[in-house]
Amino acid sequence: MARMRVNGQALEFALDPATPLLWALRDAANLTGTKQGCGGTGVCGNCTVIVDGAAALSCTLPIGTLEGADVTTIEGLTGHPLTLALVAEDAIQCGFCLPGFVCAGAALLQQSPRPSPEQLDTLPNRCACGIQPRLRRAIERAAAASASAPESPAAPAASDKIVTPAR
Ligand code: FES
Ligand code: FES
Repeated sequence: MARMRVNGQALEFALDPATPLLWALRDAANLTGTKQGCGGTGVCGNCTVIVDGAAALSCTLPIGTLEGADVTTIEGLTGHPLTLALVAEDAIQCGFCLPGFVCAGAALLQQSPRPSPEQLDTLPNRCACGIQPRLRRAIERAAAASASAPESPAAPAASDKIVTPAR
């Protein structure tokens, strides 16, 4: 059992505490926006979510270590300035890397509204379609837009629930 808030909703996972957060989100909570790319080795960044304000690789995080954590997935970032900037920069190919990239970029922008090139180098995400430069430009565009725009919308209110394994 592990309890945490996910996109503003209190969830209780009735799963083995060793279950990686990635699979708890996808298989138990039906939050399939978070992707698996490298087989849980922590290399690709596709599974990135935000945990307590920082980007985190959900494939490497057992849910038993996340008691009381505040988790945001791509489903909780609808309308974020970075999603709009990705469209403006034409930075969308297959899209598989984008949920993790948006989560990592949103966390970076939250911590550092005008990130430096060196900070952009620290992003864990790797785009197999080869549009990494456009992804970086999208963050810079979002940073510039956010400097003169209101905050991104808050996640909608949601009721608490218990999540059990899908099978
Ligand atoms: S799935 Fe590749 S880093 Fe998690
Ligand atoms: S857009 Fe295809 S992996 Fe990045």
